[in-house]
Amino acid sequence: MTNIRSVVRGVGSYLPARIMKNDELASIVDTSDAWIRERSGIEQRHIAADGEFTSDLGVAAAKNALGHAGLTSHDIDLIIVATTTPDLTFPSTATIIQEKLGLRGGAAFDIQAVCSGFVYAVHVADAMIKAGPYRNVVVIGAETFSRILDWEDRTTCVLFGDGAGAMVLGREDNTEQGVINSFIRSDGQHCDLLYVDGGPSRTQTVGHVRMEGKQVFRHAVKDIALAMKTCVGQVGIDIKDVNWMVPHQANQRILDGVGRQLGLKPEQVISTVAKHANTSAASVPLAFDTAVRDGRIKRGDLALLEAFGGGFTWGASLLRY
Ligand code: UT7
Repeated sequence: MTNIRSVVRGVGSYLPARIMKNDELASIVDTSDAWIRERSGIEQRHIAADGEFTSDLGVAAAKNALGHAGLTSHDIDLIIVATTTPDLTFPSTATIIQEKLGLRGGAAFDIQAVCSGFVYAVHVADAMIKAGPYRNVVVIGAETFSRILDWEDRTTCVLFGDGAGAMVLGREDNTEQGVINSFIRSDGQHCDLLYVDGGPSRTQTVGHVRMEGKQVFRHAVKDIALAMKTCVGQVGIDIKDVNWMVPHQANQRILDGVGRQLGLKPEQVISTVAKHANTSAASVPLAFDTAVRDGRIKRGDLALLEAFGGGFTWGASLLRY
């Protein structure tokens, strides 16, 4: 029987030019560089320019990933975009990106799983590659989270940033590389702990991020660790055979806690939270691309991706790069 795999043909990312350091935030809300660093590990975040939209960030990341894969946009038959900050309520940001990439064929749609969106999108892309005619899928996590922050709320506005990451997944038969397993979960009973207080149906506004940080933190550490163990355990792989943990970049203390629980060395945990802050669905592919570009993640390495976000939603993906 043919063993179909969704292999990572290329990765890419994009960060807006403007960097906002913690000190700048301290001039907006009652906070300090020391508090933000100590509680979250964040030193700075990138902020999209006026007129720079989620689709623009996503297009730049997708182009980088296509270049890395040695493909052009015409090789792509499916675009999946994970985002919580779409350009518009509709059409999907994926179709806007499709147009900006000059693609006339194939299909494109968005996924909404907040910070877990990229892990969800990899799972969906992998299933569609295995089930259907799709040969090359661009999976993008792209966010302009700065647009939904309450810049007067110090408990949230210091934590997030803008950016995009992309991965080209392509069908290959009988290979050891590619997505080995994915595990996704959600539990809607906690939707009031991390949410946006607006939306087209309920308020006809976009709304702002609201979070009970401490409670989210507790759930995140527990659920992420279990998701990662389940994801490797389901396919009989030992966590000690994993080379890299590529986590959602919400808080350095979460990364440290989960890494410790799983017995991973700190240097195996890819951390970009200091420089990128929490870019929601973009954070995992941004971290993955960073570690590929700087030579840490190499072809053949086993990487375990994880994410946790509003909903709650969470999950993990195991892949051999
Ligand atoms: O991406 C989705 C997943 N998101 C997450 O996983 C985020 C999870 N949560 C967290 O990362 C952390 O809970 C935070 C970084 C949000 C907060 O850290 P914490 O250690 O849980 O702090 P806290 O919320 O308990 O706040 C401690 C104190 C409070 O003051 P009191 O009540 O002790 O007097 C806050 O009012 O720090 C205060 N505080 C701040 N002080 C300075 C809250 N935000 C700030 C701030 N600057 N920005």
